[in-house]
Amino acid sequence: MDDWRYSQKHLLGIEGMHALDINLLLDEAEVYAEHNRQTQKRKAILKGLTQINMFFENSTRTLMSFDLAGKRLGADTISLPVSSSSIKKGETLLDTALTLNAMRPDVIVIRHGSSGAVKLIADNVDCAVINAGDGRHEHPTQALLDALTIRHRKGKIEGLIVAICGDILHSRVARSNIHLLLTLGAIVRLVGPPTLLPPHFADLGASIHHDMESGLKDADIVMMLRLQQERMDGAFLPSTREYFRTFGLTDDKLAHAKPDAVIMHPGPMNRGVEIDTHIADDLKRSGIAEQVEMGVAVRMACLDVLTRDLRAEAADG
Ligand code: NCD
Repeated sequence: MDDWRYSQKHLLGIEGMHALDINLLLDEAEVYAEHNRQTQKRKAILKGLTQINMFFENSTRTLMSFDLAGKRLGADTISLPVSSSSIKKGETLLDTALTLNAMRPDVIVIRHGSSGAVKLIADNVDCAVINAGDGRHEHPTQALLDALTIRHRKGKIEGLIVAICGDILHSRVARSNIHLLLTLGAIVRLVGPPTLLPPHFADLGASIHHDMESGLKDADIVMMLRLQQERMDGAFLPSTREYFRTFGLTDDKLAHAKPDAVIMHPGPMNRGVEIDTHIADDLKRSGIAEQVEMGVAVRMACLDVLTRDLRAEAADG
């Protein structure tokens, strides 16, 4: 449907999102991916608009690529230096957001450690809000960039077997990917130890595997996740060495997947914990660098699409 218009004001999560909205963002991102390979990358479509990035959790890829995406589209981008902000003086998240809202930004991009924090802000500010990861809840632009990488490598998403492996319980990346991949018709398998993959994940429509052999069998895509120790309160695993032995991606485990399976990881990677270092560096099989590249394109598409109505109104005077 070529004339489909994006149906939401914000991008808070993939759950419940229309397949046409997802495909619209992916198609737009495809064009930006091509554009980003040119030497001259600067466009002016967001000229005069202000983008504020508020990252309350650490980030390399997501923060840099949102900033770069805004700049490549010509927006004025600014990032709140959280560690030296008034949050440290006891200001609440909502008061901080309302303060920034009074500066009249056109887009706010937020990462926060609490699930639901981004929605709270979106409900209380005037501009479009993009979720750059909230707690264990969702990380929608990560799922979109993963989908774009899969489309590039495999030409489609529908019908592919995607194994998402590791610390599913604490992963917003897993949750957003499960929703997106199922919406676009992939077969999703979740693989991990019972402590990090409780049975209720089956309710989302994916199958559950507690061993890599059955989880990876004939998989087209093997998506590895980081052990998110910062979200673990208590002992979820005997040791990381034991974890690597049973769930770390090694050649012998990867042999169960299709010979042309693509290996993915959202980063940051813990080499020797969830993935063998030479597999991570295998340029033919690994899609990890491409995921980062697609991240900029996807974020450009999101910024473009979410400000479209606003820009159209401004053009109409
Ligand atoms: C992920 C995140 O922050 O949720 N990283 C990312 O955005 N690339 C995954 C992780 O931290 O393990």
